[in-house]
Amino acid sequence: MEIMANSIVIFGASGDLTSRKLIPAIYSLFCKKYLPEDTMIIGVSRTQFSSEQWREELRATTKEFSHRYTDERWDEFCPRIHYVAGDVSKPEDFVQLRKELFKIEKTADGNRVYYLSISPKLYGPTIASMGEAHAQQLDGIDELPLRGNTKRRVVIEKPFGTDLVTAQKLNQQTHEVLEESQVYRIDHYLGKETVQNLMVLRFANSIFEPIWNRNYIDHVQISVAEEVAIGRRAGYYDNAGVLRDMFQNHLLQLLAITAMEAPAQFNSNLVREEKVKVLRSIQPMKPQQVAENTLRARYDGYLDEEGVPADSQTATFAAIRLHLDSWRWNGVPFYLRSGKAMNCRTTQIVIQFRQPPTLLFADRNSALPEANRLVIQIQPAEGIQLQFQTKVPDAGMRIRLTDLDFKFQKEFAGEMPDAYQRLLLDALNGDASLFLRSDEVELAWGIIDPIINTWSHQQTPILHSYPQGQWGPLASNEWINKQGHSWFDVCPVLH
Ligand code: BG6
Repeated sequence: MEIMANSIVIFGASGDLTSRKLIPAIYSLFCKKYLPEDTMIIGVSRTQFSSEQWREELRATTKEFSHRYTDERWDEFCPRIHYVAGDVSKPEDFVQLRKELFKIEKTADGNRVYYLSISPKLYGPTIASMGEAHAQQLDGIDELPLRGNTKRRVVIEKPFGTDLVTAQKLNQQTHEVLEESQVYRIDHYLGKETVQNLMVLRFANSIFEPIWNRNYIDHVQISVAEEVAIGRRAGYYDNAGVLRDMFQNHLLQLLAITAMEAPAQFNSNLVREEKVKVLRSIQPMKPQQVAENTLRARYDGYLDEEGVPADSQTATFAAIRLHLDSWRWNGVPFYLRSGKAMNCRTTQIVIQFRQPPTLLFADRNSALPEANRLVIQIQPAEGIQLQFQTKVPDAGMRIRLTDLDFKFQKEFAGEMPDAYQRLLLDALNGDASLFLRSDEVELAWGIIDPIINTWSHQQTPILHSYPQGQWGPLASNEWINKQGHSWFDVCPVLH
């Protein structure tokens, strides 16, 4: 009888991501019966634990982070969990791990996902060690060579490199051991239902496509505002800053999906091909263009956060204007903005349409009527709002902006699944559509790097400051107003 096996091998088992996100996501998939029957979860890290101890730790954290938790379900789930101690950046430990995995999986032919949830500086060494360990023939284990084995996949967490050069190097190290089709680079925003729905909105409806271009759209705003400050992440954050932390990945991905052409088919390469074309259409800024097209700031009190150096110049807020050189988008600015310690938590894509060619009712109204807007509320209060002018009854020809709302919560029963559920399942099933391809990551760095370099070498534009709990600095409003636009500063547009 053929033995089926599916396993998710998590490197960095004792880390925060594992207990807060990965295990609760796998547990939820199990509860919903989405997880293949025979799936095993094997945690690996250097700490010496028994499987029993790790299960008990995870029971407590899953109880805290998954509202689906019940003792009965957990008891059914936890025999799938195993723990192996070892340093996987050392080939000898990796060889040992392979032997342990064989004992657990009972076949060398199962479907296995290695999940790298470790310190990014260990990605390269761990993949190299994986390559060496897999090259060894082990007694009684008849496993196919790693490279090109479609049943061996590797998920790599963000950040993938810290700039273009390091990303290229990591891609090169990865490709020495694995085919690109075996590599699953995570951007958890792509696992969000509302981000995937953006493609459905655009490509499963015919009414948006004809107006989704420079003829009808004035500009696009993509905002990811976070209420939280940096908390205890200074060690990471002060080196990264907002551009590396949010723009290179999440914001550019939102832009790519907003701006892409319809793929000929919905499959991983064609979808990613279209996103890559968008990134290619963005001309990296020249140093002399950075001051005009970007704005940076940090929240008051940032320097007092634990672990932040006194001379830090790190931005916690940024706004940038990008131009896409394409038939569809030429002349349509894309404004991207994100910050910590802002007014509220909201991620929105605002499609700002143009004014109608003639303003028939303008003289009956004191202010210039606002043009149409489509607000895609990615999170929280997920949904879409279309704003349009309506005649105010019994008031002559006075008009007012009104709206049509669509709310996921109202339309569909149940909660929105966490992004990791979808991503883990896709990795297990071998669907890479929602993961980043090597060229995509490099192109994104190519857009962000020149801004970071100019910020750090030329000290322009200046680093503004903003009180916590605001929409960034006032200078950000002045900056966009000067360009004839204004920010759409509305906390989740739907309630
Ligand atoms: C992460 C960043 O990638 O995304 C964090 O490192 C940020 O700084 C987080 O807070 C935001 O994710 P979400 O899903 O809460 O919007």
